[in-house]
Amino acid sequence: MRIVISAGPTREPIDPVRFLSNRSTGRMGYALASAAVKRGWETILVSGPVALAAPEGLAGLVRVETAADMAEAMKREAQNADCIIMCAAVADYRPVKVAERKLKKSDGGMVLELEPTEDVLLSLGRIKRSGQLLVGFAAETDAVETYALDKLKRKNLDWIAANRVGVPGEGFESETNAVVLFSRRGEKIVLPLDSKEKIAGQILERILPDGRRQGDRL
Ligand code: CTP
Repeated sequence: MRIVISAGPTREPIDPVRFLSNRSTGRMGYALASAAVKRGWETILVSGPVALAAPEGLAGLVRVETAADMAEAMKREAQNADCIIMCAAVADYRPVKVAERKLKKSDGGMVLELEPTEDVLLSLGRIKRSGQLLVGFAAETDAVETYALDKLKRKNLDWIAANRVGVPGEGFESETNAVVLFSRRGEKIVLPLDSKEKIAGQILERILPDGRRQGDRL
């Protein structure tokens, strides 16, 4: 079983000292990677910049910074993965121009022009091999189920783990999480509030119930 998990935020540079990013700490993705290692799976972690120690026993750790780096690493690692979990909070937009020198302030305001980044999960859904399990996350403030099901379909996923953001105890910058899993076959599994480590174990248990033995290929 070879599993590739992405975690953490991306950083989109504005100039040599500034960037656009988000509140992801990487904790959920790192917990998933630890849980996968514990099951004896060959685990590759593709991580944006975070303040966490890498889980022991990884088969590979790829450190990335931008959404473009993340896209390149994930598409490469996906080639021989049995399961891919896209847990990273990839920036949806990046500055059109990256200033070579530090931008100096002036008296007036400032407009930053942004362009979309690659949707890595969408790309992975397009190149998905048969037998490969593709799992996404959906962070939503509202209409969680509607948006999650839309992403499941649109991105050609097998599972999506939906969680609310902006709610204390769930999602970004929290030690706990509550998740609802939806599958392409129509299953809906509620994982109530628990530590991200426990939630990670439950996610793997549900999406890969038969994938426990080392060396197994799906
Ligand atoms: N994702 C990705 N590449 C992006 C943006 C998101 O791979 N450029 C992935 C995330 O890793 C996650 C899933 O897409 O698994 C959903 O991310 P989310 O931010 O909830 O949704 P978006 O597709 O960005 O849609 P929106 O921001 O409109 O909710």
